[in-house]
Amino acid sequence: MPDPRDRLIIALDVSSASEARKIASAIGDAASIFKVGKQLFTAEGPQVVRDLVASGRKVFLDLKFHDIPNTVGGAVRLASELGVSMLTVHAAGGSKMLRAASDAAQRGSKPLLLAVTVLTSLSDTDLQETGVSGRVIDQTLRLAALARSAGCGGVVCSAQETGELRRELGTGFAIVNPGIRPTGTPTDDQSRVVTPAEAIAAGASHIVVGRPITAAADPSTAARSIIDQIARAQPLTPVA
Ligand code: C5P
Repeated sequence: MPDPRDRLIIALDVSSASEARKIASAIGDAASIFKVGKQLFTAEGPQVVRDLVASGRKVFLDLKFHDIPNTVGGAVRLASELGVSMLTVHAAGGSKMLRAASDAAQRGSKPLLLAVTVLTSLSDTDLQETGVSGRVIDQTLRLAALARSAGCGGVVCSAQETGELRRELGTGFAIVNPGIRPTGTPTDDQSRVVTPAEAIAAGASHIVVGRPITAAADPSTAARSIIDQIARAQPLTPVA
């Protein structure tokens, strides 16, 4: 079982490198993985990733690449050369795109390649509007299986789908859950939240937490408390 510190991903959803640095230094060595998403990357570009990597942090680059195979392969290669530890692509890009991404992820830091299945903001009806018939869970399972067979190391999905995915896909495949709220913290704009322990029990290998840590009066203590909850949670199905 991986170190519980390596199962918590802290989302740096801020608009400047100085705000990101302030949060990272408040957290200190309490946690190890930081997620750089579209907001911070659009503001600061790859230098913010280089700086985090140079300061000894693991970076999850969450840019959700979705394009033709050649373009995605090139972007994943450059991200791997930046030294990121994890990164995302959209599974809906298809097996050729996923294969190009997984080949490119063998370079540089050899990041864990995660496929986003169905965005958790989409309902069954929203999915049908895009031309996909059937339920979100069925499409999620289909895309997760496609991602695994194309060489991806895991998926990002909601905790609601995690139990079924873990049962279908078995062990040795990462399942990353956002939408996590420790008991007693505000839900903010998240509608369906689960606790760290519930996500781990369902079979998540990693959880993504943003504001409950980054907006806490003491981010380091908030991170340590969540890591402690991860360490004490019991997965119903083995994850590794
Ligand atoms: O602050 P909070 O814990 O809500 O941040 C959650 C992070 O996970 C954000 O970076 C958000 O973009 C991301 N995320 C999410 N829900 C999804 C996919 C990603 O909240 N379905």
